[in-house]
Amino acid sequence: MSTVPTQVTAELFRYLIEHSTPEDPFLRQVREAALAAELPAIWISPEQAVFMGILLQISGARKVLEIGTLGGYSAIAMAQAMGPQGHVDTLEIEPTHATFAREWISKGNFESRIEVHLGAALDTLPGLAGKAPYDAVFIDADKGNYASYLDRTLDMVKDGGLVMVDNAFAFGRILEAQTTTDDVWAIRAFNDLMAREKRVTSQIVPVADGLWVGVKHS
Ligand code: SAH
Ligand code: DHB
Ligand code: MG
Repeated sequence: MSTVPTQVTAELFRYLIEHSTPEDPFLRQVREAALAAELPAIWISPEQAVFMGILLQISGARKVLEIGTLGGYSAIAMAQAMGPQGHVDTLEIEPTHATFAREWISKGNFESRIEVHLGAALDTLPGLAGKAPYDAVFIDADKGNYASYLDRTLDMVKDGGLVMVDNAFAFGRILEAQTTTDDVWAIRAFNDLMAREKRVTSQIVPVADGLWVGVKHS
C-alpha cells in the first residue's frame, strides 16, 4: 500500500460528485430559489451536504450550532440528516438572507427544527450559551472572525462533539503566492491555528472548498 495520495484532479473531483448520493429534491428547490433571488451562490455544494449529513448521522448528532445561514441550504440539509429529533440554531447577520431562509424553512416544514438568529454572530452567540452543549458546530460565515468563532463555539460543543469549518482551501486560493485578499489571509491564519488547536483532533477533507472536520476532546 502506497502512502502517496491520489491527486484529486478536476476530473476525479467530478467523478466523486457524480458518484455521491444525488441532491435532495427540496434542497434543489431551495438552491434554485436562492439563485433566482440572487443570493450569493456560496452555499455548500450538494456533495458537501451529503458528506456533512453522513457525519451528523454517524455521530448521532441532534443539536447543531451553525454560524452563517445564508438561504438556509446547509441548515436544512443538516436538519434533514438528523431527522425529526434534530435541531439547528443558525446565526445570520443579513436580514435579507435570514428572511429568505425563514421562508424556505417554513415551506419545508422545518420551523420547529431550525431557528434563525438574526444579528452579528459574536453578539448572538452569548445568548445561546444556555442551550449548550451542542453535538456539532458548523462555521461558515465571515472569515476574519473564524478564530473567534472557533474559540467561542468550542466552549459550547460537547466533548466528543463534531467540529466542521468551511472553506479551508480559501476558494481555491490557499496556496496562491500573490494577489491574495484579506479573506485568504484570514483563512491561512485560521488553518494554522486549527492545526495547532489542542482541544480538537482535526483534518481538512478535500470536499468542495476544503472542509475542516474535527472532534472536540477535553
Ligand atoms: N452555510 C450557508 C452559507 C453561508 S455563506 C450554506 O451553506 O447554505 C456566509 C453567511 O454568513 C452569509 O449569509 C453572511 O451574510 C453571513 N455572515 C457574514 N458575517 C456574519 C456575522 N458576523 N455574523 C453572522 N453571519 C454572518
Ligand atoms: C465565499 C464564502 C463561503 O463561505 C464559501 O463557501 C464560498 C465563497 C465568499 O465569501 O466568496
Ligand atoms: Mg463557505
